[in-house]
Amino acid sequence: MSLSYEFQHRVKILSGHHSLEQLPKELQDLGVVRPLIISDEMLKKIGVLQSVLDVLMKEGEKEIPCFTNVPVDSSSDIVNEIGKVYHKLSCDGLIAVGGGSVIDTAKGVKMLLSQEVHDLLELVGCETIKRGIKIPFVVIPTTSGTGSEATLVAVIKYVAKKVKMEFISYHLQPDVAILDSCMTKTLPPRITASTGMDTLCHAIEAYTCLQKNPISDAYATAAIALIRDNLYKAVANGNNKRVRLAMANASTMAGAAFSNSMVGLVHAIGHALGGECHIPHGDAMNILLPYVMRYNRSILDEQYGDLLIYFAGADVYAATPKKERGKRMIQEVRKLQKRLHHRCGLPLTLKEIHPDPIDFELVAQKAMNDGAILVNPKKAEKDDIIRILEAAYGKKGGRL
Ligand SMILES: NC(=O)c1ccc[n+]([C@@H]2O[C@H](COP(=O)([O-])OP(=O)(O)OC[C@H]3O[C@@H](n4cnc5c(N)ncnc54)[C@H](O)[C@@H]3O)[C@@H](O)[C@H]2O)c1
Ligand SMILES: [Fe+2]
Repeated sequence: MSLSYEFQHRVKILSGHHSLEQLPKELQDLGVVRPLIISDEMLKKIGVLQSVLDVLMKEGEKEIPCFTNVPVDSSSDIVNEIGKVYHKLSCDGLIAVGGGSVIDTAKGVKMLLSQEVHDLLELVGCETIKRGIKIPFVVIPTTSGTGSEATLVAVIKYVAKKVKMEFISYHLQPDVAILDSCMTKTLPPRITASTGMDTLCHAIEAYTCLQKNPISDAYATAAIALIRDNLYKAVANGNNKRVRLAMANASTMAGAAFSNSMVGLVHAIGHALGGECHIPHGDAMNILLPYVMRYNRSILDEQYGDLLIYFAGADVYAATPKKERGKRMIQEVRKLQKRLHHRCGLPLTLKEIHPDPIDFELVAQKAMNDGAILVNPKKAEKDDIIRILEAAYGKKGGRL
């Protein structure tokens, strides 16, 4: 771990069973009178968006502009379209109500508006995002997975090139994140499981990536303990408000951790699989995680061993000899995956969700070009990634 480090977490968090009620006051504090709500069609259909509108209407609002046409893994085209809507409707702030796809789309819109450009692609590259015009931004997550409400990252698809672009800037972080247990109670068990495994992956990669530091470690390990106690319960009983809120907190904490220490090889390969084969982010994270841990173990054994106490508890940690702890941690991750697989069908191999052959060469090349690979503590070559992909696919003889 480097002796000098940088840690930034400027998002105001409002977490609780009724924290949504505080939205009008937060908007008032931010000086917003005509926000544009960004959400998706599913959340509109099942009434999750309505619960946010109800809170605003209680305060006397009559008509609130909404854009709900955000697809899973949004694109730069959608971001550009929403930018035009924002201007046309004379809005003065953004509210994202959704999972990572919606939140990252809203971050894209914030970038576009604050930098005064018309096409998000103009902002691809390093150090392109300056402070710019202030666009007040509130995020209300409806999944407990990406932690995007706390991160300086936005992942947005460039459809023509079949790649997921990563934008990284402190100016992307929202002003306020509202974590309310009622926002995730409709999340089906299968998505609860895969998004929760994304959170676990953020925490494990945050704890092991090259920019780790004492503060990101504290957030990451606390998130892991919450996942241990609450993820399976949230999948088994989605109406349990206490565990839903605990998972929302875990997701935000893991987001704050990785926003500062960054994520590594699991995400580099997962982004490539998402861009090329449309594999949902949480599913990709869940499937790849143990294979990448096995790959990294030759140099991360001790750090994985440290995590055993948070993930499996003090008794298991104490009963496991020091030199066995790293291996045991990977086994414990596998054990949770199998329980979730039996409970809600969470896939364990890529071929379960993508029965067609995958061009491993192409995916591996895209993973090599992903920024996340730079902070993975063990260097990975294209052939290493192909071996990980073959094993994760469930290919006969593909072992790691
Ligand atoms: N910016 C970051 O820091 C970061 C980190 C990790 C992942 N990501 C990105 O986030 C995206 C994935 O986000 P996600 O995993 O949250 O899923 P998602 O936003 O893609 O949503 C998945 C599905 O769940 C539905 N859904 C969401 N909330 C629901 C609810 N409360 N009830 C019922 N259905 C609900 C959505 O309508 C959608 O169909 C990917 O594009 C990924 O690359 C971003
Ligand atoms: Fe992720």
